[in-house]
Amino acid sequence: MEVVISSSPTESYQIVASIFQSYILDHLDEKCVLGLATGSSPQGVYDELIRRFQFNELSFSHVNAFLLDEYLGLPPDHPQLYARYIRDVFISHLDMPNQNLHYPQVTQLNTGDISTICTDYEKKLRQIGPIGLQILGIGSNGHIGFNEPGSSLGSRTRIKTLSPITRTDNARFFSSEQDVPVHVITQGLGTILESQHIVLIAQGKQKASAIAQMIEGPVTINCPASVLQFHPHVTVVIDPEAASFLSNSSYYQFVQANKPDWQDKY
Ligand code: GLP
Repeated sequence: MEVVISSSPTESYQIVASIFQSYILDHLDEKCVLGLATGSSPQGVYDELIRRFQFNELSFSHVNAFLLDEYLGLPPDHPQLYARYIRDVFISHLDMPNQNLHYPQVTQLNTGDISTICTDYEKKLRQIGPIGLQILGIGSNGHIGFNEPGSSLGSRTRIKTLSPITRTDNARFFSSEQDVPVHVITQGLGTILESQHIVLIAQGKQKASAIAQMIEGPVTINCPASVLQFHPHVTVVIDPEAASFLSNSSYYQFVQANKPDWQDKY
């Protein structure tokens, strides 16, 4: 696991946008598949990528993208439906074809159809994937996607029940906490681990404890993000506040300052 402690959230956005740009430019003639997350943490990255697209630094016309998770029970026009949200804030500003965005089709839900939605989504992942570059945020309780504490480390795309802490954290996007859905569909931890390169971004003190458990704690279902310790290529990009509970920050900074010339920067 590569730990990059930036000087500020803005610098984190630049670093992660550059990782995306390199991946997209390196995959002009081959499969180019992104994994996208919602939440506030990656928003600055999306804004920076939109800016670079507008300055003709890259195109998304050959890109496919998979959305990580989705709320259940929201009306099709709800602004917090993740498939709608990611179009509004990111995809609609790019030249990526609309049909290249893939997500759990929850608005086609009829009673009893959830497992079909999940298997269809996993099938699509197998057809179009694997995901070459996946961006993740992290919940204050250590969730990734919507894999709450207790999630099986090998889990696949499925329905999950949100924890009270996540519903409280996400209430800021809804009129009230009661309006936050109780159920969601999310890629499982086993599904996420199949992405080739995972970049996790976090900012602020409220993420410091989850970040320390993920990087330096034991691998445990109590901190689902800790499963990333098993993955061969994870880059964690955090600001000084999110890094503030780490024991080995000076070593991570030393590693970054002493990269051999031949090695990829991230
Ligand atoms: C949400 C999303 C996650 C996100 C996390 C943190 O519930 N399902 O993908 O990483 O919680 O959100 P934020 O970045 O807004 O703190």
